[in-house]
Amino acid sequence: MATASVAAPALVRHAGAAEQPRFALGVASGSPTADSVVLWTRLIGGDLAEPAVPVAWELAADDAFTRIVARGTEPARVDEAHSVHVSARGLEPARDYWYRFTALGQRSASGRTRTAPAPGAAVPRLDFATASCQRWEHGHWAAWRDAAQHPSGRPLDLLLFLGDYIYEYASAPMGVRTHAQGAATTLEGYRARYALYKGDPLLQAAHAACPWIVIWDDHEVENDYAGLQGQGLDPAFAARRAAAYRAWWEHMPVPPALRPPADALGAVPIHGRLDWGGLARLQWADGRQYRDPQPCPRGGRGGSATVRPAECAELFEPARSLWGRVQERWLHEGFSVAHPWNLLAQTTLMARFSTEAVAPPAEPGGAPGGRYWTDGWDGYPAARRRLLAGLHQRRVPGTVVLSGDVHANYVAELHTEADDPRSPHVATEFCGTSISSRSWQQASVDAALKLNPHVIHGRSDQRGYVRFALTPERLEADLRAVADVRDAGSAVGTQARFVVEAGRVGAQKAGG
Ligand SMILES: [Fe+2]
Repeated sequence: MATASVAAPALVRHAGAAEQPRFALGVASGSPTADSVVLWTRLIGGDLAEPAVPVAWELAADDAFTRIVARGTEPARVDEAHSVHVSARGLEPARDYWYRFTALGQRSASGRTRTAPAPGAAVPRLDFATASCQRWEHGHWAAWRDAAQHPSGRPLDLLLFLGDYIYEYASAPMGVRTHAQGAATTLEGYRARYALYKGDPLLQAAHAACPWIVIWDDHEVENDYAGLQGQGLDPAFAARRAAAYRAWWEHMPVPPALRPPADALGAVPIHGRLDWGGLARLQWADGRQYRDPQPCPRGGRGGSATVRPAECAELFEPARSLWGRVQERWLHEGFSVAHPWNLLAQTTLMARFSTEAVAPPAEPGGAPGGRYWTDGWDGYPAARRRLLAGLHQRRVPGTVVLSGDVHANYVAELHTEADDPRSPHVATEFCGTSISSRSWQQASVDAALKLNPHVIHGRSDQRGYVRFALTPERLEADLRAVADVRDAGSAVGTQARFVVEAGRVGAQKAGG
């Protein structure tokens, strides 16, 4: 890597009034390791040269770009929507870097990124956040400003985005903002949706603030899809999914090697694992691509339903998996007994969440009571039991499950037997609320909390994200809440704080 200090090219300038801004979708970084990080941008404009436009990139050790540590040029190809994915390598562990791009005489905004600590290194602290579900029409994204510029002044080391980056639907009625796009079903449609979302300056600020690790949920493709089955059982669903996966890759700061294969049935392995030094092992899971279909769907279609166990024997079939058996085994084997903390980033609420009273089975071996939404982990109870019983058997320390999808903050105890609070308590779950997507009435959540005592906090009435500080001694979770989702300038405050002490499973509510 070159280390010479180089002055900025004299011809580079910001776009004039009559000139189309080429970097209007911002910049991003992600998928950090101890010696690499991925840098992303995408050029905009209908007049871009085919087949590619050269884009120069720089990575510096300082925010003034006086100490350049790596640079290069990558082609922004028309068949990749003029996106650029740079894998910057040979970097030092546990340090900040700044990056920017130039093309067509224009320079992008700069972003800050950070590498992971060296494997096994003593790490005093990890500051990270989780976020999910940013339906554009449902609100403005003050939450992203808070993530990028927290009042503490302490930057995030890492942001985990847990799914529903876009929503594929046509514009919602009664939205805070509206768009004119129809439902996204084609590559062009998904590209246009990402461009809409990524035009938001607050989202751009959050990307420019720290590296992201990104997993998808259903709305990056279609509501409630499972594997290669769309919720409408459309025989052309595989082609739609392939277009959606392609557009996702084009717009995310994920490695160049994750570019989806030409074969629409080819896998796009977005799950992964990263050690944050000796402090934590982080794993992230794909809950869509390999899952078995939801049980007992409504007649003539796929997707989710709400079911009573007595009416849905398929619910308990042991072979059914939310992650698919291959990924499931990989994740189970990946938990670390050598780290004090194991963070599992995955899409949806893992804690049992019944909306009817859970009575014991009427006869031995019979189905328990309760009523469950089948798109979440309640639709895959055998897979959930395999995971949690395995954590118990292997005595995996410090397991914290990080979730999103359900547009509410839930803090929960995870026991090996979902219906038995006396069974071993093996993990703590923090399921974060949505950035902007609408949710249930709080009264419905309050009613459900009475039926699910292992869920110790439930708030659907506020949008936001969750900010964590992890040390060898404890995990602190700060549920950040937006005061008014209709206002891009809204204040953001703390809904509640929780602490998990090392060596002691379960969250305690903190004062203040
Ligand atoms: Fe969502």
